[in-house]
Amino acid sequence: MKARHFLTLKDISQETIDYLLKLATRIKKNKFLCKDLLQGKSIGMLFDKHSTRTRLSFEAGINQLGGNSIYLDSKNMQLSRGETIEDTARVLSRYLEGLIIRTFSHQTVKDFASNSSIPVINGLTDSYHPCQVLSDLFTLFELGLLKKGLKFTYIGDSNNVTSSLIIGLSKLGLDITVGCPAEYEPKEEAVKIFDKQSRSSGSRLNILNDPYQAVKEADVIYTDVWVSMGDKDSRKKFEALQMYQINKKLLSYASGSVKVMHCLPAHRGQEITSEVMDGANSVVWQQAENRLHAQKALLVYIYSR
Ligand code: CP
Ligand code: NVA
Repeated sequence: MKARHFLTLKDISQETIDYLLKLATRIKKNKFLCKDLLQGKSIGMLFDKHSTRTRLSFEAGINQLGGNSIYLDSKNMQLSRGETIEDTARVLSRYLEGLIIRTFSHQTVKDFASNSSIPVINGLTDSYHPCQVLSDLFTLFELGLLKKGLKFTYIGDSNNVTSSLIIGLSKLGLDITVGCPAEYEPKEEAVKIFDKQSRSSGSRLNILNDPYQAVKEADVIYTDVWVSMGDKDSRKKFEALQMYQINKKLLSYASGSVKVMHCLPAHRGQEITSEVMDGANSVVWQQAENRLHAQKALLVYIYSR
């Protein structure tokens, strides 16, 4: 049987997302659900970039499902001395029952997956962050917001999280507005996937350069850092993004009950003020917690067949 990979949200159907959201709800209520599912299984975690949430939520989740996680630092592997990703995939497939990988190029994850006989989960690349968005969909579902008519606005730098949000929301037939400077609009590849998916789902993508117009009457405003891991820090970029900060003034243009989301880590005072992040509209801690429950649901989906 072909291994079930999770490289982008394109890999799973709308029905599977619905199933995962319901399963995550049950898992959140009962930490011990499927507690022996991964017994005797070792899952590697190959990380080329920093992580707090992804690493810890997967490690805790694997542990709660009875499995064993092995953290692999690529700097100490032969990968850093020139062994290819394809050869590494062939070898790791013989020791492990799965691999979670966080790296720079999305192609690396694809190359690993196409040479591996074990399931591969994308824990973030420069292009996509599907585990984050899967759990964000779960947060929206819990809040009762995951339904037609939702006004969802992403504000700031169009990055890996933006691309996964575009794919995830459009798969479910939901609209998304992106408010960003003209130089930092969503990546072409994600827009192409959106175009294809929206033909059947009917979802709309609205890209606006005016942040006030973008958040007008929004039910959800989502932001992320202005400089992602692996991105170049530039003064020009910071200057272009200044007016896209989520602050009290910007929030006043949204719906009164607007929820503010951020995948974290946040740079308080840059893309979001502390006042908003710690304020009544913020759901960022619920989002962070949900990484654990949604990823456990994903593991149950991958390993129970
Ligand atoms: N949101 C997220 O993926 O956080 P980490 O970088 O801490 O894993
Ligand atoms: N866009 C951010 C997300 C971090 C979780 C980054 O790639 O650094």
